[in-house]
Amino acid sequence: MTVFPDGFDRFPFPDDFGRFPDGFIWGAATASYQIEGAVTAGGRGASIWDTFSHTPEKVADGHTGDVACDHYHRYAEDVRLMADLGLKAYRFSIAWPRIQPTGAGPVNPDGLDFYDRLVDELLDQGIAPYATLYHWDLPQPLEDLGGWTNRDTAFRFADYALAVHDRLGDRVRTWTTLNEPWVSAFLGYCSGVHAPGRHSPAEGFRAAHHLLLGHGLAVSALRSAGAAELALTLNLGTVLGKDEEAVARVDALLNRQFLDPALRGRYPAEVLEIAARHGGLEHIGDGDLAVIHQPIELLGVNYYCPTTVSRSPGEPANPAYPGTEDIRFEPPTGPVTAMGWPIEPAGLESLLVRLSRDYPEVGLLITENGAAFDDEVRDDRVPDPDRIHYLDGHLRAAHAAITAGVDLRGYLVWSLLDNFEWAYGYHKRFGIVYVDFTTQRRLPKDSALWYREVIKRNGLQG
Ligand code: NOJ
Repeated sequence: MTVFPDGFDRFPFPDDFGRFPDGFIWGAATASYQIEGAVTAGGRGASIWDTFSHTPEKVADGHTGDVACDHYHRYAEDVRLMADLGLKAYRFSIAWPRIQPTGAGPVNPDGLDFYDRLVDELLDQGIAPYATLYHWDLPQPLEDLGGWTNRDTAFRFADYALAVHDRLGDRVRTWTTLNEPWVSAFLGYCSGVHAPGRHSPAEGFRAAHHLLLGHGLAVSALRSAGAAELALTLNLGTVLGKDEEAVARVDALLNRQFLDPALRGRYPAEVLEIAARHGGLEHIGDGDLAVIHQPIELLGVNYYCPTTVSRSPGEPANPAYPGTEDIRFEPPTGPVTAMGWPIEPAGLESLLVRLSRDYPEVGLLITENGAAFDDEVRDDRVPDPDRIHYLDGHLRAAHAAITAGVDLRGYLVWSLLDNFEWAYGYHKRFGIVYVDFTTQRRLPKDSALWYREVIKRNGLQG
């Protein structure tokens, strides 16, 4: 069991602790490949994660998303669970290969029907649907044409986005284009630990650019189609360390590589310099940055932990960060989650304050925050005090940021359900609801019951 971090008490609430702002959006998040299962139902095509998870040695113990939480068949039960927890919002993603099995061409009505039913069920229960269009399950036929390293994929993505909006746009208000494009590009095409499992820094930068281009094209298309609220979700982290240049370089690769093109219309100098040394910049076409730089209403913030770096020539290179061969990524020194990620709520407050200072025109929504721990069922309960502590600490940090003037609209916990945690398979449990993957029984953990009270109070206990 983990020990609670010292940082936890850093945000003491006065007895008369004010609540979160009225209308604060409390919710939970999931993603299609991680929960749906039913990978051949309703005419769904294969995605890169089907291929990757079925490739030996890629995912722990050969786990796949073939069944996952069987949410495709159990969505109504899952929505009832959300309603019981008092969720105001639910962030889910749409599986592109359900909508266009080959990634292009006519839409598959059965695929759209599933999300249609899900959205109606959510609205019936008074839960606002937050749709993410791409959470990593690229149709395999597009990967066969080069995937995100192929510029054409960006245009295919915008077509797909529009097709989904055509069907659901009358009921879904908030549309997120991409989830964590850094992960798609640099874990998928550079370090190879995610699908499609390629190992090329040059391809990482190309993929990142085409993901951004796809975001810009999709935002323009959805805006013209009348979408109410458009968003981009990034995995953002505070980068810590004494060496300013090393900190700035890692911050450029991880954070500003996506923030600056999308919100300012330019790449950070560090990224251009590193990409130029890894394959060149030819993939950045004239006018691309104007396409990418579209006004959006919301920036989705996925925050888990800070990254600490130091200058240390001769380090083994971090395969996900080209151009950092002289930088050491420090192992955590304090408490960690089951992922080995440091627990540092203060990093969330400083991140939110920094985003609001540097990108004041966009509203912020925490689209993911949460932790994996080694949960166990005991007497038909799942006591998960570590997760409650983690969430409580991060909500205090979020509240501190709001008090400091940050326009933070809401908080979506990752995740509603234990699910397929990518290369870790089912071994890492992030849910506030326990899933028994043999029986598919759902059991709210203590953290879910705690979260229900937080939502009811619109705040934490003093
Ligand atoms: C971010 C990703 O969006 C999500 O899919 C993943 O499960 C969580 N991080 C935890 O690693």
